[in-house]
Amino acid sequence: MSAPHLEAARPTTSGTELGTPATDVPGGTVAAGPGVEHVVGRLDEIPMGEGRAYVAGGVQVAVFRLRDGSLHATQAACPHAGGPLADGQTDVDVLVCPLHLLAYRWSDGAATSGAAPIRLFPVREQDGDVVVTV
Ligand code: FES
Repeated sequence: MSAPHLEAARPTTSGTELGTPATDVPGGTVAAGPGVEHVVGRLDEIPMGEGRAYVAGGVQVAVFRLRDGSLHATQAACPHAGGPLADGQTDVDVLVCPLHLLAYRWSDGAATSGAAPIRLFPVREQDGDVVVTV
């Protein structure tokens, strides 16, 4: 197998769409397959306990830096009605959409209410950069 490809992406402000049009991201669980790694921004752009919206390979994603130091990435638009997930509240277990307050588990993307799940993307830090695989 070849090494993952790294591609720079343009950051956006939280919950704001800039540049590349949204790519439809259906609800689901953790992205399957190898994907492509994209550098979406710097880790220090994301305050502890908050999320920020980015575009990774044409896909709008929300990246969260939890207070335990872990990173999580999901689709930017809530599967319920398109709420800006990057503006949601989170703890180490769940993300709560700011629009109608549905909660989604970070472990598998499932909604605690049984609604459609969010899609999760692999994310990691490398030399201060946030790298999302889509
Ligand atoms: S849009 Fe997210 S809970 Fe309704």
